[in-house]
Amino acid sequence: MLATKTQFVCQECGAAQPKWHGRCPSCSAWGSMVEEAQRPAGRRGAAVAGNGGRRPQPLAEVEAVRHDRLPSGIEEFDRVLGGGLVPGSLVLIGGDPGIGKSTLTTMALARLATRQPVLLVCGEESPAQVRMRAERIGGAGRIGVVAETDLEVVCQTLVQEQPAVAVIDSIQTLWANDLSSAPGSVAQVREAAGRLLRVAKEHGITVVLVGHVTKDGTVAGPRVLEHLVDSVLLFEGERERSYRTLRALKNRFGATSEVGVFEMRSGGLVEVADPSARFVGEASDAPGSCVLCAMEGTRPLLVEVQALVAPTEIVPPRRVATGIDRNRLAMVLAVLARHGGPSLASADVFVNVAGGVRVDEPGADLAVAMALASAHRGETLADPEGRPLACFGEVGLTGELRFVSHPERRVAEALKFGLSPVLGPQAGERVDGLTAHGTLRSALRATAAGRSPRAKAA
Ligand code: TYD
Ligand code: MG
Repeated sequence: MLATKTQFVCQECGAAQPKWHGRCPSCSAWGSMVEEAQRPAGRRGAAVAGNGGRRPQPLAEVEAVRHDRLPSGIEEFDRVLGGGLVPGSLVLIGGDPGIGKSTLTTMALARLATRQPVLLVCGEESPAQVRMRAERIGGAGRIGVVAETDLEVVCQTLVQEQPAVAVIDSIQTLWANDLSSAPGSVAQVREAAGRLLRVAKEHGITVVLVGHVTKDGTVAGPRVLEHLVDSVLLFEGERERSYRTLRALKNRFGATSEVGVFEMRSGGLVEVADPSARFVGEASDAPGSCVLCAMEGTRPLLVEVQALVAPTEIVPPRRVATGIDRNRLAMVLAVLARHGGPSLASADVFVNVAGGVRVDEPGADLAVAMALASAHRGETLADPEGRPLACFGEVGLTGELRFVSHPERRVAEALKFGLSPVLGPQAGERVDGLTAHGTLRSALRATAAGRSPRAKAA
């Protein structure tokens, strides 16, 4: 049999070459050539006759498909998906190795298996290893398992078994034997996802792809599949810590703003229905700590932000940010130095969002600034009863505090845990419990020694 012809296509400019090149001969980009199966060319070059087209149909006449979702029974997971898995959809779950992707998908399958046939294709572990994990989690006895990495066989198994939901763990282990590149390479991963997509749509099978992401999220990672799949979920957290967050980067059937919080325990992942309670309960009243009223999608979340400021001789001093963006930390440090805060040019600075949570929103700026100022002064921000200070707000480059979304929900969440008043930027309308400040300087002054944060803004 003649092997399928392949070609190497530059991912930057699209130029095709019969052989691999380290540098694209066309656009000179390095390392951009990727092997792809060559599809037979269409009727190229012919004049357009204009009679083979299709008649457009008014959208109102398009038959609407009702998606009866398949709830997995793991509420946090379903919420991130927008109410459960959509039949016939292709979902990608990405995350660092060891973060708990196999655990999460096995748990979901175990619950789905009580109502419909499910299939687990394990390419990374042997069925015996999968069983060991399943026993820790419990209730996974009904899951059908196939240990297979040949893409063709996997597709045929799906068509033959017709499961309602199939999990491929992981997409990087699958290989199509008509491509010469190694499993896990961009060409293989893309080919595998493309074929599974066709099977999923044709047979109405929900396919969940598990994919490892490298730290920069590029190398043959799920990034190359984002456009292809219906939903991309990212499972994050730090491996050494127990909290994990699941968020949607893309979702064709729901919002991308939802976030699910889990805790890794010895018996599998446990949903954390009220993460704020956990994080506030763990917050300390030591200098350098304050509570951030963050928004995770549509849900307010209180997390503790901790800062440590230590004098150093090293030039340049160290800036270590865990859970927040490093560039935002640099920006907050610069604004502090210029607009009423301490200058930390000769100090190492560490900022950490406790619990291993990541906060990716500008609303975290004020909390970072407050924690840093408090760490520098060596004075606590907590009130006499030991309740931590809660705050939120974006810090502008000119030292002003800027409006962030949903101030009322953030304040309400803080009030729920007895944290009052909350420091923040001016909201559009009056928000009870919010002490609004126009500038970082005035917020810093209000919390400085001898003054209670309760003091009214100037
Ligand atoms: P795993 O789901 O295999 O991660 P991934 O598929 O993303 O690579 O599990 C990751 C870690 O979770 C593993 O190091 C052990 C730990 N773990 C627990 O702490 N408790 C459990 O019940 C299970 C199943 C795993
Ligand atoms: Mg795994």
